[in-house]
Amino acid sequence: MAQRRLSLGLFMPNCSNMPSISTHDVAQDQWTYASNEAIALAAEQYDFEYLFPVSRWRGFGGETNFLGTSLETTTWASALLRATSRINIFSTVHVPLFHPFVIAKMGATLAHISGNRWGLNVVSGWSEREFGMMGIELEDHARRYDRTAAFIEILQGLWSEAGQPFDYTSDWYHVKGGQASPIPDVPPQIANAGASEDAKAMTARLCDWAFISTPSIPDVATIINDINTRAEAHHREVRTAIFPFVLWGDSRDQAEDQLHAIIEKKDEVATANWLHDLTAGSGSFDAFTSDMLAASGGGVHVHGTAEDVAEQLREANRLGVDLAMLTFPHYLEDLHRFAREVQPLLLQ
Ligand SMILES: Cc1cc2nc3c(=O)[nH]c(=O)nc-3n(C[C@H](O)[C@H](O)[C@H](O)COP(=O)(O)O)c2cc1C
Repeated sequence: MAQRRLSLGLFMPNCSNMPSISTHDVAQDQWTYASNEAIALAAEQYDFEYLFPVSRWRGFGGETNFLGTSLETTTWASALLRATSRINIFSTVHVPLFHPFVIAKMGATLAHISGNRWGLNVVSGWSEREFGMMGIELEDHARRYDRTAAFIEILQGLWSEAGQPFDYTSDWYHVKGGQASPIPDVPPQIANAGASEDAKAMTARLCDWAFISTPSIPDVATIINDINTRAEAHHREVRTAIFPFVLWGDSRDQAEDQLHAIIEKKDEVATANWLHDLTAGSGSFDAFTSDMLAASGGGVHVHGTAEDVAEQLREANRLGVDLAMLTFPHYLEDLHRFAREVQPLLLQ
């Protein structure tokens, strides 16, 4: 597969305490809409192409209550799409919480509002804390992804004129004469971020993007080859994104020191809760240590000098990564600094 240019995006801080599960130097008001809008506008100014939010309904306890305060991601996207003019903005939706007709209609509305800049990250659901709080039982892992596949197939039906009206039967949805209007001019892009076998099989068949959790940049090669092979079997192409946690300083030691300070103040309780829920039935974060997860929330660590960071991102692109959705401790100021110190190196 030919190497495509590396696009840049942000995995946005629409939740509190992002991105680290730590009490070290927390940017307290980063989750607010005003902060998110300022970050989005700066990202657009620096030619970033994508913004992705996190969808959360409850925090993970401990001293940080990691991600405990959060903005809902379709309403968040609606405002940001009006504030910006070029950048693509996704929403993240938990399949068991919404009927696909509701998301199809919201998506068509957001595509209409934004000139087709909206996309959808579909999450099958994994957090017992959230779903238990709502009285919703998590199904077993494979069935969660069967339901997600049905959800996406109904969205695709409702976003394409050709097949309407249509019937669709599954264990979860019984559509009779399904139709919707308006239909987006271009079908919104769909992403999935699962790392398990169930997730990869579903993503290869039905999604446009695979968001990859990888413990290191070199490890991404095997994961991408696997996704490409699976997608080719369906005569499809799936683009791939990583979400690096980026730290850099004048020297490697400076960046390492910052990483150690974050890990030293790790929130043990929230990290354990996060790990417990996320890995149940998945196995997909087995290669992450608890310290790695606490520092980046599951993103791949990319640190060193500015040149080290640029080289690791270039390496990811050589290995097939299409998009790096960056996370930073202090998004706005780090984004300005990234644009000054790292982006020029990437463009060389
Ligand atoms: C980049 C990225 C973004 C994610 N965003 C969310 C999110 O916003 N909400 C959520 O509940 N899960 C989110 N997840 C979790 C995944 O969607 C998925 O449920 C998780 O990796 C477990 O799936 P698996 O068991 O198939 O590996 C995200 C994961 C990644 C890698």
